[in-house]
Amino acid sequence: MNIKLVDKKIADIDSDILIEFLTKDELAECEHSDILQKAGFKAEQDTTCFLYEKGILFCGVDSKKSDDLRSAASCMIKMLKSSNYKSAKMSVISKSTLSALVEGIILGGYEFNEYKSEPKKAALEEISFALNDFKLDELETIFNEALIIANATCYTRDIVNRAPQEINPQTLAHAAQSLAYENSLLCNILQEDDLAKENMNAMLAVGRASVHGSALIHLAYKPQKAKKVVTLVGKGLTYDSGGLSLKAPTSMVTMKMDKAGACAVLGIIKAVSELKLDIEVHAFIGAVENMVGGNAYKPDDVLVSRSKTTIEVRNTDAEGRLVLADVLDYAQDKVKADYIFDFATLTGACMIALGQYTTGLMGHSHKLKHDISRAGSDSGEMISSLPFNRHLKKLLKSEIADISNTASKPYGGAITAGMFLDKFIKEENKNKWIHFDIAGTAYTESPWDCNVYGATGAGVRLMCEFLREVK
Ligand code: BES
Ligand code: ZN
Ligand code: ZN
Repeated sequence: MNIKLVDKKIADIDSDILIEFLTKDELAECEHSDILQKAGFKAEQDTTCFLYEKGILFCGVDSKKSDDLRSAASCMIKMLKSSNYKSAKMSVISKSTLSALVEGIILGGYEFNEYKSEPKKAALEEISFALNDFKLDELETIFNEALIIANATCYTRDIVNRAPQEINPQTLAHAAQSLAYENSLLCNILQEDDLAKENMNAMLAVGRASVHGSALIHLAYKPQKAKKVVTLVGKGLTYDSGGLSLKAPTSMVTMKMDKAGACAVLGIIKAVSELKLDIEVHAFIGAVENMVGGNAYKPDDVLVSRSKTTIEVRNTDAEGRLVLADVLDYAQDKVKADYIFDFATLTGACMIALGQYTTGLMGHSHKLKHDISRAGSDSGEMISSLPFNRHLKKLLKSEIADISNTASKPYGGAITAGMFLDKFIKEENKNKWIHFDIAGTAYTESPWDCNVYGATGAGVRLMCEFLREVK
């Protein structure tokens, strides 16, 4: 489907269907209010009403703000895709809401059909945005950038949605290599023998029972004059069975999504390179599969991590933090960054704390957390800060090693996981680091906002928004 900006008045565009967004107040004023009322349309947010004979699709919105328009555009596109119309048109509402409409259309219209033998093909070919009285040069960049970010989000979704028999640590590394090739990024892959030389024993232990070798993926985007250097780290568990602390069958289903942090990081570096932002970005991914087997790592093992910190394993299902401990340590040695952001589907506890719709944000710098919260509001991704404290930190104490991989009490699990990672952040980087727990937000089995069944691409829009504003 093609989406385009057209430098014409809406009436001058030839299209099968006109799309109109209506608030309740506007409904009362609307020339079609009688028929709409008869049809039972109340302009409630995320409801639609098709006036086939008039060739208009009405979409209800609570307001003409970005968040409401994004969500309404998602409902609209689903409706249109189920029709047989080939083209549709709508007016640009304002400069500040154009991105949200583009995102709503692309993200809400996304479908993952790779494994369907007969995927439904939508008839819709084209959506035109009428500029009306807006100037093309004022909106063109906004439009093109919104397309880049939405498409990068779909790229992330596509990899997360792929089945675990297809995406394993090695094929994830191949996907990263292809991205590097297409977007002219630097790419370095460390295989298990390299990881052993780097003493990345925590990461290696997690992947030991897998038939697929673990890999550390490092991609870099280096523009000529970079204002800042940013390190991104992603949890890339291509499957999390829980290991010997095996997950219950119902909890194991969907664990192909445990690679969503890694895929988000790939989507972010893709978008940054296409937006040609003048910041240097490094993406580090720990690609590992957590399986069972005779050589599996065990509860009671003590691992010597790359930083020499010893870790008592009490639960092999708390594997993400073990992988990230080594990757964060490696990343800090390789790149002196101004910001270090890690993305991980780290804890079920984060979902319990914040719900499925909000990403957990952890770190030490109040200023950085504040700036990121702003990027959250501007991007439409919901994020909320979970505060570290010294009492929870004590729960990670181990009697036999430097730290335990699980807390001794069951509450505050998202925060204790974050504080575990903090142990591997070097003193000089404490205020540069933020941990994003996307366990709740990365994947959904019921559509919400502009998210459809499956991967959401959480983190991509948020980080693009933040990085665009980096000074
Ligand atoms: N990948 C899971 C976290 C997760 C759970 C992500 C549900 C998405 C949905 C992680 O590796 C895990 O299993 N964490 C454990 C930690 C516990 C053993 C301390 C958890 O959350 O139960
Ligand atoms: Zn796990
Ligand atoms: Zn996991």
